[in-house]
Amino acid sequence: MTTKKWWKEAVVYQIYPRSFNDSNGDGVGDIQGIIEKLDYLKELGVDVVWLSPVYKSPNDDNGYDISDYRNIMDEFGTMADWEEMLAEMHKRGIKLIMDLVVNHSSDEHEWFQESRKSKDNPYRDYYIWRPGKNGTEPNNWEATFGGSVWEYDEQTDEYFLHLFSKKQPDLNWENPKLRQEVYDMMKFWLDKGIDGFRMDVINFISKVEGLPDGEKVEGKKYVSGHQYFMNGPRIHEFLQEMHKEVLEDYNVMTVGEMPGVSPEEGKLYTGEERKELNMVFQFEHMDLDTQPGKNKWHLKPLDLRDLKKSLGKWQSELEDGGWNSLYWNNHDQPRIVSRWGDDKEYRVTSAKMLATCLHMMKGTPYIYQGEELGMTNIKFDSIEDYKDIETLNMYNERVVGNGEGPQEIMQSIYTKGRDNARTPVQWDDSEHAGFTTGNPWIKVNENYQEINAEKALDDKDSIFHYYRKLIQLRKQHEVIVYGSFEMMYEEHAEIFAYTRTLGEETLLVVTNFSGNTHKFDSSIDLKYAELLISNYEVAEKEANSFELRPWEARVYKI
Ligand code: NOJ
Repeated sequence: MTTKKWWKEAVVYQIYPRSFNDSNGDGVGDIQGIIEKLDYLKELGVDVVWLSPVYKSPNDDNGYDISDYRNIMDEFGTMADWEEMLAEMHKRGIKLIMDLVVNHSSDEHEWFQESRKSKDNPYRDYYIWRPGKNGTEPNNWEATFGGSVWEYDEQTDEYFLHLFSKKQPDLNWENPKLRQEVYDMMKFWLDKGIDGFRMDVINFISKVEGLPDGEKVEGKKYVSGHQYFMNGPRIHEFLQEMHKEVLEDYNVMTVGEMPGVSPEEGKLYTGEERKELNMVFQFEHMDLDTQPGKNKWHLKPLDLRDLKKSLGKWQSELEDGGWNSLYWNNHDQPRIVSRWGDDKEYRVTSAKMLATCLHMMKGTPYIYQGEELGMTNIKFDSIEDYKDIETLNMYNERVVGNGEGPQEIMQSIYTKGRDNARTPVQWDDSEHAGFTTGNPWIKVNENYQEINAEKALDDKDSIFHYYRKLIQLRKQHEVIVYGSFEMMYEEHAEIFAYTRTLGEETLLVVTNFSGNTHKFDSSIDLKYAELLISNYEVAEKEANSFELRPWEARVYKI
């Protein structure tokens, strides 16, 4: 039996502040810019905002490298602005969850500045330091943003670990003092009145003792060490401790970002009686268009059957006691309408279909800024226009370093690069899409005259209004939140269909992931069914078998 919770009934909207809305013309989004758009979010109907990091940061990784956890980045505003934003959100009944980035800090954090000074500095063990091995790095792990995970520091003749960039040293969770600092900092924000946390790569915080070498790969100097830090030996203990020390005392929501988490582990992280997290962001479905065993830049077309299998497994595994998060997009992923929809002829129809398929599953749905407008991927001609550290490091390593042809690499960047999600939100058809009066820090997508919020608000058939309706339906029909899930048509390569059932009520969700037409035979009698939402006109009282048009989506309540 699923227990009722406010965060199960909520829809979350993610703001990536740098690209959301600039109020002061410096080309960078900011907190006052967010305040200006709260009525827009209210109209959309979302319940919670997840705000990507706004803390002090040298921006090596756009705020995911924090140099002061208790203060606001100058470019974004002041603590007073932040407090005003929180009050304005709460006034509108919108909750706020903050990003908690504690697998690593910035190397400019004062803890690290101290830590690197000497081996006996009181902050030394806040980070992971090791002597070199045979005159080189302590192990052969590769960093997510390229190169070794180890950086040599002359001052003490040791290396420090960084799973991401060398400006993001990993914090040492084995040290109870460090853990206490993190818990105190969490309370600092909770006591200001926030409603929870999204936790950055939180399943990386416990590393296997000894940090063993990863399995060697022919021709590669550095290899993945993920089995030694993903879902590591003490992870559940740390999360349970965090729950007991901090979360237990507040009525808040938590979502842990967890690359490499399986449904079985997901159940452990989210099982209510275990007191760890409310839900996790899993990545299985985001990896289905990557060649197996390779990194994300090695492309492969999506087979819809894989997607159904994966999402279906998560649905059933977490049915009792656990809880799913539902997402297609975030600041690290390409735009879904370009990825698995059709961002040309059927942009509007396919964006609505994708939204339907996601929002009707069991779990808490997340909308990433601009998704509700059907914003698309970006193709900059020149690598110079890209800003993302992951993209630029990969390009440099492969094109400049290995001499690979730039064309194929640019194709991967167009398909998977994180900047696809980071171009400014398109508010209207004025210069720079109304995002800024200055020079945007990253170029605006040229399609802003066609795709923008002002236009979407004026058009009752827009993607925006469709999302609004999906959110409203969730408030009106409990079955959308709490109903159990069952997949249909498992072997079909283009139809994604399922039912949701709660007591006497059943929902039938039918979506077409293609530009082809398909006949759909419902095994459920639709004679007395009510069509709750669809992205096409549907003739009154259609038969149980009907033609599913390109990218069509229908939801019936029986
Ligand atoms: C995951 C975040 O979503 C991503 O943007 C960031 O680069 C890494 N974690 C490192 O913090």
